[in-house]
Amino acid sequence: MKKDYDFIAKIYDPVLYLALKPIRIAVMNEIIKYKEKIILDLCCGTGNQLKLLSKNGFKNLHCLDISNSMLEIVQKNDCPIKTYNEDATQTSFENESFDIVIISFAIHEKDRNTQEKIINEACRLIKKDGFMLVVDYVFDNKTTIFSRMGISIIEKMAGEEHYTNFKNYIQNNGLSGLIKNDRFKLVKNNRKLFNGVTISIYQPNTRTFHSLMRE
Ligand SMILES: C[S@@+](CC[C@H](N)C(=O)[O-])C[C@H]1O[C@@H](n2cnc3c(N)ncnc32)[C@H](O)[C@@H]1O
Repeated sequence: MKKDYDFIAKIYDPVLYLALKPIRIAVMNEIIKYKEKIILDLCCGTGNQLKLLSKNGFKNLHCLDISNSMLEIVQKNDCPIKTYNEDATQTSFENESFDIVIISFAIHEKDRNTQEKIINEACRLIKKDGFMLVVDYVFDNKTTIFSRMGISIIEKMAGEEHYTNFKNYIQNNGLSGLIKNDRFKLVKNNRKLFNGVTISIYQPNTRTFHSLMRE
């Protein structure tokens, strides 16, 4: 899979930059009043979300990805974004290091175990009064056929393992099947791309948060 990301890094922006731009802008608008907050993009890819935030006055930006090829693209600009080549399932940050953790288009392509570990890690990293913002696919009765077809074609192009994980993610009811109330509470949800993408904001469940801190 790591090799896949080296290849995907080369084509990611040329293929997806324009299609994803409205979503990047919508994400920015969700958090526009938090320009001074400490923000981590987990599985950041080429870093386009944080580059947009940086250009719009957000100051404290951190990008983490397992692929060096992706991070090299993040670094090819003059935005003051700190980068970390680490595994999102087990990072080196202390508990409660960030106000906002963004996870964008990264959950659907992982196996279930990795998905759960990334969500748990995000929970550990978010401050008590912070939140997690997740962008990912959602297929339900609001999602148009056009959106389902376009997303499925893109996921098929991403390789066999990605596609298998994507299909399992959809079958398991996407984020709502994964992110349980014991860890996080869904506080806001905004749909994009013909209702095939959700921008969801979750607050950590404080009781779980304290038990995680004790682990
Ligand atoms: C589909 S890309 C999404 C990139 C970006 N978040 C976006 O919105 O465009 C998924 C990213 O997850 C990264 N990734 C996969 N497994 C990871 C892991 N265990 N830890 C950190 N990053 C990982 C990949 O290298 C890739 O850059």
